Amino acid sequence: MLNHNSEQILSCCDSAVIMDDVVEAYGWAIARDGVRSVEVFSDSKLIAGGSYGGARMDVHKVYPDYPDSIDCGYYVSALLDKKLSDDANIILRITTKTSQTMDIPLKHNKELRYRPCHFHEMFIHSDGHIHPCCVTLRDDLIIGHINDVDIIEKIDAFHARCSCDSFTLRRASRDDKKRYFFINIEMSLLCNAKCAQCSVDAPSWHAKYDLYSSLTRIIEQLRPMTIAVQGGELLIQKKSLDWTAQIGRRYPDMDIMLLTNGCADMGIVPFVNETFDRVVISIYGFQPETYKKTTGLELSKTLSFAEELIRHGKCKVNLKYLTTPINLHEVNLFLRWALWLLPERIILADSNIAQYINTGTPDRFWEKIEERTKQSVQDELRNARAALKDSGCTIVIDSVNRKRLGIEELTGDEVLGKHITSPAKSRTALLGRGTGLM
Ligand SMILES: C[S@@+](CC[C@H](N)C(=O)[O-])C[C@H]1O[C@@H](n2cnc3c(N)ncnc32)[C@H](O)[C@@H]1O
Ligand code: SF4
Repeated sequence: MLNHNSEQILSCCDSAVIMDDVVEAYGWAIARDGVRSVEVFSDSKLIAGGSYGGARMDVHKVYPDYPDSIDCGYYVSALLDKKLSDDANIILRITTKTSQTMDIPLKHNKELRYRPCHFHEMFIHSDGHIHPCCVTLRDDLIIGHINDVDIIEKIDAFHARCSCDSFTLRRASRDDKKRYFFINIEMSLLCNAKCAQCSVDAPSWHAKYDLYSSLTRIIEQLRPMTIAVQGGELLIQKKSLDWTAQIGRRYPDMDIMLLTNGCADMGIVPFVNETFDRVVISIYGFQPETYKKTTGLELSKTLSFAEELIRHGKCKVNLKYLTTPINLHEVNLFLRWALWLLPERIILADSNIAQYINTGTPDRFWEKIEERTKQSVQDELRNARAALKDSGCTIVIDSVNRKRLGIEELTGDEVLGKHITSPAKSRTALLGRGTGLM
């Protein structure tokens, strides 16, 4: 909400967390005579100061004539010595360089949406850096390194600004307990494929990976309920598979997930079935030549592995189709196959196709391909209603593909509405580095 003071001071608080002993707020503020400070007061007592001057090009575009509008972002944060009382009067105060002030009341919020994400989930990068989730491109979201002797203290003290579809990260309060639902572990990037779209650039990775004992230590300290392991391709990494199997034996109640391209020999199926509770198989095209040009691998081998794993039936199988510019038109073929197998989950995730393609050409080529794909995908889903009805299969579709494939047009249907969901509601569906969901 925009707050203003006769156009002298304008401000907007994008997020404010006032919970127990945690105060954290960020947004932007501009003033005709320039902003001097942004602070938080509780019953007139200063409880949190912060920084002013973060880049806000979005604000500058709308208010270019205000001084400093280009760098008008603020971030105020504090961990207090004692809890705020529920009836405390909390104010965010903007003070200008000529000492004019504007007070914005902040409410206590106890919604679950605000949470210390790093107390519940984390992503361990192949280089050993630990992040609160899979957003690994931001240096300010590095908590520390798995080999740091004080890594637990670093986790306790960590805080940064971050929001996703599901949560807004906040500082941990003294009352917060670490309870790890999920740790996502990226091990060696060694891979049997040469995927053109690989989000971790595994094909050009030549380093050596040896962080197994550090991983064992962190698992021992944090005791997550679920871990996901990925590479590179774990099914060709003996040490990574041995480590995972040994963790499974040591912690039989822990859920262990594997992310794989599934292009593996049939002989490994019994081991995979025994070691993992859930296996997510990425499929990068559904015609042999498309798949081969993208990955360098044989589609038939991947499909046979997936079918055999589902036939064995012990671990849950998720079939994930990553849409790229050269496989989008084959989504319906993938869906026909996946809906015949009815695994635990069928996932459609986008690889940010918009960055590769050119819409708006005179012949509207891409729009026509998308429209035809949408029609064939909708037909496939409608035809699968009867099979889906009594199955436990969920179809998870990310927001880009939902829009592109007109999925909202289908979810009014009782059966499809029940079986089609989004990654935000099924948080362990998209687990790659950079997906921004975990
Ligand atoms: C890098 S892969 C490693 C695991 C395994 N080799 C595989 O391909 O599934 C981890 C995850 O990233 C996803 N992924 C690969 N390339 C991607 C891209 N360009 N954009 C988004 N996700 C991608 C995969 O589908 C997979 O779920
Ligand atoms: S199989 Fe996975 S890790 Fe290997 S190149 Fe493809 S996306 Fe990257």
